[in-house]
Amino acid sequence: MGVTRDPGTFREASAYYMAGRPPYSRELLPTLERELSLDGHGRLLDVGSGPGVLVVELAPVFDESVAVDPDPGMLAEGERRAEAAGQRGIRWIRGVAEELGSLVTGTYRLVTFGQSYHWTAGMEVLDTVHELLEPGGTVALIGHCAEGRPEPRGPARPHIPEAEIVALVREFTSDASLLSKARRSTPRLHQTDLRASLFGDCRTVYAPGRPDIVRDVDSIVAGYYSTSYAAPRRFGDSREAFEAALRALLWQHSPEGLFWDWPGDTEIVLATK
Ligand SMILES: C[S@@+](CC[C@H](N)C(=O)[O-])C[C@H]1O[C@@H](n2cnc3c(N)ncnc32)[C@H](O)[C@@H]1O
Repeated sequence: MGVTRDPGTFREASAYYMAGRPPYSRELLPTLERELSLDGHGRLLDVGSGPGVLVVELAPVFDESVAVDPDPGMLAEGERRAEAAGQRGIRWIRGVAEELGSLVTGTYRLVTFGQSYHWTAGMEVLDTVHELLEPGGTVALIGHCAEGRPEPRGPARPHIPEAEIVALVREFTSDASLLSKARRSTPRLHQTDLRASLFGDCRTVYAPGRPDIVRDVDSIVAGYYSTSYAAPRRFGDSREAFEAALRALLWQHSPEGLFWDWPGDTEIVLATK
């Protein structure tokens, strides 16, 4: 598995991330509290934190929290969001998961990866995480999962035409390698790697995805620009043409310009030391 050493892979994504990405389940925090018997103590480490999606939500149930991400734009956005949420206790560290052993100190009760594990070197990172956990501590690999999950009843709006948008991205970008990596199904990867790592085993729990997310055309464009594979700079001189084609496609599918976004349930793969 390749490692994201190019700090530009996610550059620019931070500007679009919160506007364009569907949020995790409303039940994420209660599910983790229940599954891991969290009691407001211990330390949290969030790896590949992006703009702090997980760490800002989970920090209130820990004594201390640390967020690690290689992208300065993501870290800046995370700090801004934490400040807005009145949380000043989070430490933001620039770096990659592969260097965790030298980036952070002490032990952790919970280490989280939100849609970030597949960007790392994989198993060697899990083994470092195993060392960083306190006895009984847990690693949680978190993401959206629609495959095999029952679709809830949603608002009467069309689905986002994802397959057609991905075909457009392929048409307008020269190198589709990041696209296949970013869109790889992660649940199986998570479970296989955890079982083969020092953890030896894992279990999966689901928190119900939000059934009521309605997104407009701007938000959907932002969502694609927030990804590594469709970040604006990847289109070079064709960016305006790509965006015009994307917007036309979306309006064609929904004359009101509104779509139902069901990202699936929030999948949490847990492994305890
Ligand atoms: C899809 S975003 C996920 C953000 C957030 N954790 C969430 O749950 O929405 C992936 C993040 O992984 C980070 N990342 C990429 N390669 C990484 C690496 N090798 N180590 C740690 N983080 C990495 C990116 O900078 C980006 O912020």
